[in-house]
Amino acid sequence: MDSFQTREFLQQRRSIPARLLTAPGLDIPQRDWLLRMALRVPDHGVRTPWRLLTLEGTAKLEFGKRLADLAVARHPELSTTRQEKERQRYHYAPLVVVVIARLDATDSAIPEQEQILSAGCVAYNLLLGAQALGFGAQWLTGWAAYDRKVAALLGLDRHERVIGFVHIGTTSAVVTERSRPDPAAKVHAWTP
Ligand SMILES: Cc1cc2nc3c(=O)[nH]c(=O)nc-3n(C[C@H](O)[C@H](O)[C@H](O)COP(=O)(O)O)c2cc1C
Repeated sequence: MDSFQTREFLQQRRSIPARLLTAPGLDIPQRDWLLRMALRVPDHGVRTPWRLLTLEGTAKLEFGKRLADLAVARHPELSTTRQEKERQRYHYAPLVVVVIARLDATDSAIPEQEQILSAGCVAYNLLLGAQALGFGAQWLTGWAAYDRKVAALLGLDRHERVIGFVHIGTTSAVVTERSRPDPAAKVHAWTP
């Protein structure tokens, strides 16, 4: 890829809704490349304040099933349609990567915000890397990312936070582009 193609690629970065992501997924060399590349993020003080979990195969459906059970336990009135939605949410894309921030509140040199941001960069790198490999991806959170019971289900300790679920797979439909911000409205020179 020359520099023009690289710029075009970056200009076209976009997400694909998770429900439109399907098989085939990444092959083993692509998966290895993506997971290695994803960890190459800005990281103040080289703390590596993140880790990843992968949901693949039957684990995805099982995870969705457990989430649906949790949702019903909390809201017994939940409609069967919503229950089914919870159950299927992680089922579409062949690979879902759970990006987890490992926070050290006692680290006097690196504020928690910077640790979270570094983990966010991992999620973003997964999106960008997946697209570079010709796949689609979407970063989702939803209630599950902020729920302590889901955190326990995933085996997180109390210093860890789910940054997001990055769904990765083959794009199965044409997706219309959303509007993009105009730099003129967002970028201003500071004047003293
Ligand atoms: C931290 C974070 C959490 C997100 N969670 C959700 C979500 O739960 N549901 C959703 O529809 N979009 C969510 N999004 C938005 C999508 O990832 C994506 O940005 C959106 O579909 C627009 O696509 P684009 O990346 O092409 O702009 C989230 C984005 C971020 C950065």
